[in-house]
This record gives sequence, structure tokens and C-alpha cells, in this order.
Amino acid sequence: MAERRPLVAANWKMNKTRSEAEEFCRGLLPLVENAAAEVFVCPPLTCIGTVVEAVSGSAVEVASQNMHWEGEGAFTGEVSAAMLLDVGARGAILGHSERRRLFGETDEALARKVPAALEAGLLPILCVGETEEERDAEETDRVLRRQIDAGLARVEVHRLAEIVIAYEPIWAIGTGRTATPEQAEDAIGFIRALVAARNEQAAESLRILYGGSMKPENAEELLGRGEIDGGLIGGASLDPEAFAAIVTAAG
Ligand code: PGA
Repeated sequence: MAERRPLVAANWKMNKTRSEAEEFCRGLLPLVENAAAEVFVCPPLTCIGTVVEAVSGSAVEVASQNMHWEGEGAFTGEVSAAMLLDVGARGAILGHSERRRLFGETDEALARKVPAALEAGLLPILCVGETEEERDAEETDRVLRRQIDAGLARVEVHRLAEIVIAYEPIWAIGTGRTATPEQAEDAIGFIRALVAARNEQAAESLRILYGGSMKPENAEELLGRGEIDGGLIGGASLDPEAFAAIVTAAG
């Protein structure tokens, strides 16, 4: 079985000014110096340059929380992969449930964004996950299949392993309710099988994270599971010590 290096990403959402971002990095770097996991910080756009500078010389990498699929043009309020690379970002969270739910991001948009990020040289972190109603109606697999089919539709098979997928059940995001390790493993196993149907080798190497109220208190239990290759952390990523504790728990 392929060795998958754990990845832990801090999704700050709409939080932190530049000086707060600098302070966070000063606190974080000494705590993750020897981390086995790959570590990403995903700040708001206004702080990307600041964080890139603050983490330079360390192994910590920076990703955005969104990205447009076009290279340039009349798309008010958007940024392209080239612009993110220009400011030093190495990845992009794509299709976060808040973007899907609150800002109308569609599966079709994701079908364009994921390959556009890859082609530009950014690591795509594709988020998928079901609502509570969908889980109660036993529609989790159907929803995940739809989101994965769309997100990977235009990705060349030989590049599949370069994508990171984050399974984030919407009912667990920012609610304090975490999926049980079994629920997370079931969903992640299902996602891996969907990738395996496209390419078995890629499915063995592709990393699938869990996200949704992960914190130092439950990180070990979740990250100790063989199927869960890391975490996408919201609330607990705003504090360097809490985030570092999760990074450490990842291995
Ligand atoms: P949370 O957010 O850790 O605050 O639940 C996770 C996410 O939205 O990525």
C-alpha cells in the first residue's frame, strides 16, 4: 500500500488581519518545525503575501480559500491561479461548503477549477460533503458521488493522485459536532473507491482529509485511522497552539 504523507491545512475563513497573521506564524513555526505532516495555512487573500513571507524558510506552505478557473479577464472580485502563484501560494481550497452554500458555487464551477489549478501548478484541495438532511435521508453516497464526479470530471487520469480531497460533512462544520471516526472512515473509503474506479494506483496515493470540528481533543482519534490522511481545520486553526497540536497528532 502506498505511503501517504499526512496533510493538515488551516482554513482561516474570513479571519485575521495582517498583523494577526504574522503573530500566528511567529507562534506556529517553532511548534511545527519537525512535523512529519505537510502543513498548509489558508489565509484570506489580503494576508496571503504576509503569510508567505512569515513562513519563508520553513516547510509551511500557503494556499488560498478559492480561485477562479480563468487566467484573467472581466471577473470582478475573483483571482486566478497565476495571481495566487505570483503572491507565493502553492495550493487552493476549492468547493468549500460555505462557498457552495452561501455563494452559489456549482459542481460545474468545480469541474473547471480543479483542472485549472492543477494545470497552473497549484495543489487543489477539493471539498465535498453532505448536509444533515442528506445524511438522514441516506443520500450521503449519492451526494459524494455527484461532487466527486464533477470535481474530477476533467482531470487527466495520470494527474489524479496530485489532488487532495477533503471530506467535510456540513453538519460537522463549525458546529462542535464531529463525525465519528467510523463515519469519517466510511465516507472517505467510499470516496477512495470512486477514485479507484478511475485509477486504482491514483486512489492508493491520493490523500483524503477529514474536516469538521476537528480539534486537539479529537484529532488523535480521527487521524489515527488509516483511511484519514489529515485534516482541514477551521475554528481550531485560528490558534497556533491548537493547530500545532493537530499537526503533531497527524504524525
Ligand atoms: P471547523 O471548519 O473546523 O470550524 O468545523 C472546518 C472547515 O470548514 O474547513
